[in-house]
Formats: sequence, structure tokens, C-alpha cells
Amino acid sequence: MSNVLVTGGAGYIGSHACKALGLAGFTPVTFDNLVTGWRDAVKFGPFERGDLMDRSRLDEVFAEYKPVAVMHFAALSQVGESMSKPGIYWQNNVLGSLNLIEAAVAAHCTNFVFSSTCATYGDHDNVVLDEDSAQLPINAYGASKRAIEDMLRDFEAAHGLRHVIFRYFNVAGADPDGEVGEYHQPETHLIPLMLDAIDGKRDALTIFGTDYDTPDGTCIRDYVHVCDLVNAHVLGLKWLVDDRGSRVFNLGTGTGFSVREVVDHSQSVTNRQVPIKEGARRAGDCTKLVSGSSRAMSELGWQPERSTLQQMITDAWRWHQTGHYSR
Ligand code: UFG
Repeated sequence: MSNVLVTGGAGYIGSHACKALGLAGFTPVTFDNLVTGWRDAVKFGPFERGDLMDRSRLDEVFAEYKPVAVMHFAALSQVGESMSKPGIYWQNNVLGSLNLIEAAVAAHCTNFVFSSTCATYGDHDNVVLDEDSAQLPINAYGASKRAIEDMLRDFEAAHGLRHVIFRYFNVAGADPDGEVGEYHQPETHLIPLMLDAIDGKRDALTIFGTDYDTPDGTCIRDYVHVCDLVNAHVLGLKWLVDDRGSRVFNLGTGTGFSVREVVDHSQSVTNRQVPIKEGARRAGDCTKLVSGSSRAMSELGWQPERSTLQQMITDAWRWHQTGHYSR
């Protein structure tokens, strides 16, 4: 079976990707430093503990497994934190990725699937963003991911590193079988925080900003189910293995929901009230991020199946009540 090196395979999206890779007949080899990931989330293939800043450890793992491709999820990914601590985003995300890319090239592993973000686009007044939209990030997280995209293009020109870049919109939901799910410590994402507030694990959900230029004053995001998202990665991997060249794809549904709309849906799925506080805007937040995802559908044949808001919150709620990891 073909090995795929999955950096960040112990994290939320990476662990779901490992499951999808296993189901598609690949062996996912998780490479993770367990700073934000969880050992318990590595269930579908071998685990190699290591840090992207450790080049010799990377070389060792490439030599042992001879992967046909890399799926690179490992990253710091909190928009708010990236504004207060930009240095760790440039260090961890950009320098870590540079090490990984250099190790991949040295090992002649030239298929690379990269986890990028719609945060690379920045604020584009009320438009649906497609892959050709200008990348003008307004936070250090988005800037770090854009820099890695540039790096991939340079390494393709010089060393033939073929890559598929996925720009995610807001990922939500959990594995319907309950094997893996979303568990961050500390948690910063809207839906898990809302579920915490619903079942009393925190006092209230604070809405970050109610004066945005949107119909109800709160930010709009495009939510995509983690299982749909990782299925696109398997299609992206096959695209590379079939030698179809480097390509960028957005992954979202094309439908935006405001923070207040997500609150309303959560209340109807759980049949409980979300205690709410209205707070100030969070630094680095874009007003509206909605995807034009037709390229992934028409070229990759991607078809989201679980990405209704109702389904994502239902799956997240089930996981929230039953699943957790420990170190
Ligand atoms: N929000 C709140 N209260 C909270 C948490 C979030 O109102 O307690 C709001 C945010 O201001 C934002 C929306 O809910 O408007 C979604 O916030 P998240 O923190 O869940 O997600 P982000 O949009 O900030 O970031 C996520 C991923 C990034 C990705 C980005 C693209 O974490 O990796 O989506 O929007 F780049």
C-alpha cells in the first residue's frame, strides 16, 4: 500500500484525513509534535512524533516510509492569536513548511497537498471569492499561508514539486462514526464554543462584533463539513498521482451564514438556548468569507454531502457529548 505522510495527523482535520486516506487504500503516516494534536486521535496508521523544525527527524521519516505524497496540515491556525503573536506564525508555519518542503524534495517525494485558507483573500466587500480573487490577507495567519503558497510555486519551478493547494473556508462537524472529532485546548472556534455554552461548560458565547456591514451586523462565514473537506483531499491526492499538475481549489459550499444564524441553527438542533453576550470585534476578522467552489466540483468531481449547517452542528453536537482526547 502507498504511504502518505500526514503532518498534523493528530489534529482535527488531519485525523479525519487519515481516516479518509485509510478508506481509500492509502496508509497515512502521521507526523505530529503533539503541541496542539492528540495521540488518541491517531488511529488509522503509524505515528511518528516530530517537529517540522527538526530537519533530521523529517529526513528519517521520509527514508523509513518513502511516501508517495505529503499532506501538510500541521500549522498554528488561530486568526486572533496570529494578530497578537505573529512571530510564532511566521516561525512555525512558514519556516516549518520550508523545512518540510526541502525534506520532501530531497527525498524525491514531489506530490504535495497543502492546507491553505480563505484567510489568504482578506476582506473583499461582499463578493463570492474564487481561486483567482486577489490574495490580500488582513491577519498574520493568512499572510503565513499565502507565503507558503508562494514557496510551493517556487519549488515547483526549481524542483518539480507538484502541489494541490486547498483554501478552506470554515471547517465544522465531526466523523459521523464518532472515531475522531474537533477538540482544541484552548478552544477558539465558534461552533464548539457555542456547544460548550449550551451545555454549561462555559457561561456564554461572546459574539465578536455586532456592527459589521452585514444584514444582522455579525460576520458571515461559509461552513464546510470536515468529512467533505478531507474527501476533497483524497481526490486532490489522486489528481497529483495521475499527473494532472499543480492546482488551487477553494473548499466551501458557496453559502454564507452569520454568527447569529449559526446560533439560531444550534438552538434548533440541540433544542436548547445558547447564552449570549455581545462583545467587541476580534482583531483580524474579515466581515464576510464565502467561497466560489465550482472549480473543485467541476475539475475534481468533489461533491459535498454533509455540509448543511444542520448536519454539521448535529455531528459536532454528537461528538461534543461523547468524544474527547487526553495527552
Ligand atoms: N466568533 C464569535 N465568538 C467566538 C468565536 C468566534 O463571534 O467565541 C466568530 C468570529 O468572530 C468569526 C466566526 O465566529 O466571525 C468564526 O470564527 P472561528 O474562530 O470559528 O473561525 P475563523 O473564521 O476565525 O477561522 C477559521 C479557521 C481558520 C480559517 C478561517 C477562515 O480557524 O483557520 O476560518 O475564515 F482560516
